[in-house]
Amino acid sequence: MAADTPADRDADQGPDRAGPPLDALALLALQIAWGADEGLSAEPVDHFAAPLAGAAGAAVIAPEASHATAPPTRPATVLSASSALVSPVVAPPRGAPRPAATQAAALAAAATTPAELRAAIAGFDGCALRETATNLVFADGNPAARIMLVGEAPGAEEDRAGLPFVGPSGQLLDRMLGSIGLDRTGVLITNILPWRPPGNRTPSETEIAVCLPFVMRHIALVAPDFLLLLGATAARAITGNTQGIRRLRGQWQALSVPGLHEPIPCLPTYHPAYLLRTPLAKREAWADLLDLQSRIAMKKSSS
Ligand code: URA
Repeated sequence: MAADTPADRDADQGPDRAGPPLDALALLALQIAWGADEGLSAEPVDHFAAPLAGAAGAAVIAPEASHATAPPTRPATVLSASSALVSPVVAPPRGAPRPAATQAAALAAAATTPAELRAAIAGFDGCALRETATNLVFADGNPAARIMLVGEAPGAEEDRAGLPFVGPSGQLLDRMLGSIGLDRTGVLITNILPWRPPGNRTPSETEIAVCLPFVMRHIALVAPDFLLLLGATAARAITGNTQGIRRLRGQWQALSVPGLHEPIPCLPTYHPAYLLRTPLAKREAWADLLDLQSRIAMKKSSS
């Protein structure tokens, strides 16, 4: 089975292979299945030592990461020689508006339905992750649901399917929802990032800042009664609280969302991938789910 997220990787080791040597294509397929989706040189490259211009002929700008399906024969030297032609990027001061985030905010604000929002994200080129991803992963479930779940980012299987939480952690998530009488017809599931970070690495702060306006707009358009935040990345990005997930989980917060009159009660809890690795934490996650279930029941009885 393919690796799902960084957190799933430990729980998802393939068996050692014995027997006849595999051919090159089979080896490549195996590496892709194990999540190796970046073509890196075996030798480290000192980009500062490379000549500034003219060394490589044509000025090919190196992508941040090659695509999973890029030809395996692409010479690593092209990447290193060409990247010397790229000017160093000076990061904007922390907190300053980033042009891509500003553009995302404008596109998000103009969307009046989840379908329009999806189309806006599909046309947005301000996040380099879209270049390495196979599919945009927007949402799954019921757009009219009263309960919305936000995870971190698609893993390998989500990237292939174009749907969130379909890998090992998604299967656990389905069981968790089932334990409190919910399934995907009664919830809407999305992620902070709509594209898979290469190799399932942790999303960068910039990627989160750029994509956050889309998630917040999605929440505003769905206007759920309750929001369940799966894991530290979602909890921190949505609430702005940078405490660890062990502190944040189980603590209801009232989330003010631009465009909504009422704050949304939101509950951070552990990410299913963490629970796969840390079965002891399931007890606390179970308490969070029961808490959510009783709030849903209270809401139903009062309306
Ligand atoms: N982990 C996430 O956070 N989201 C997914 O869609 C899959 C795994």
